[in-house]
Amino acid sequence: MAGRLAAQVLDMIGEHITLGVSTEQLNTICHTFIVDELGAIPAPLNYRGFPKSICTSVNHVVCHGIPDQRRLKTGDAINIDITVIKDGFHGDTSRMFFVGKPSVMAARLSLICFQSMWCGIKKIKSGARLGDIGHAVQTHAEKHRFSVVRDFCGHGIGRVFHEDPQVLHYGQPDTGLKLQSGMTLTVEPMLNVGRHHVRILSDGWTVVTKDHSLSAQWEHTILVTESGYEVLTLGTKDR
Ligand code: MF3
Ligand code: CO
Ligand code: CO
Repeated sequence: MAGRLAAQVLDMIGEHITLGVSTEQLNTICHTFIVDELGAIPAPLNYRGFPKSICTSVNHVVCHGIPDQRRLKTGDAINIDITVIKDGFHGDTSRMFFVGKPSVMAARLSLICFQSMWCGIKKIKSGARLGDIGHAVQTHAEKHRFSVVRDFCGHGIGRVFHEDPQVLHYGQPDTGLKLQSGMTLTVEPMLNVGRHHVRILSDGWTVVTKDHSLSAQWEHTILVTESGYEVLTLGTKDR
């Protein structure tokens, strides 16, 4: 339920991502929709002191961008990351959007990041191991010469926003924790055009690439099943 609602927010916000809109305005639209239309709670708001209801990460911002007065311009690439709480459970998902026509590099980075996420997701089933996911993500990303961010990872999720295990987006097959059916976790790779190193700005949240190169991220919340997986955060177009 929470997963589907989070995806619904992303389905809704797409048409609002236009030239001149501020990330603060996008935050307000999402907040109102989550609370008034979905009867849900925006999990980021006041989470460990995060001041807004969504994360908006533009261009070289890797993740955890804080919505502000800054207006989007043509060619901007933006990740919108939505986490909602419904009936006590969390659903967490993010997608990339573009303002107007993206650069060839931005479009390619986003596509490979999306594919890398799916390479990881497809490894998921009861008995598979966390290293299988990380290795699949990393292999696809690096085959296309993008780097995988190391300092942030996916996570277990449920009644708690971030819980064990950590889901690294790099690693070796047949290593790490064995997945069991009933577990829920996120796969949310961040890929950079340049090097993988990141830095946190003085606001304590905004993560940027150290070399200021472009970054992209996609995220789904996944339920592990006996025979494979169920993606809990598919949008209407994907189901
Ligand atoms: N949604 C992010 C994730 O994928 C976490 C955001 S934490 C916040 O894990 F406080 F920045 F909102
Ligand atoms: Co997450
Ligand atoms: Co998220």
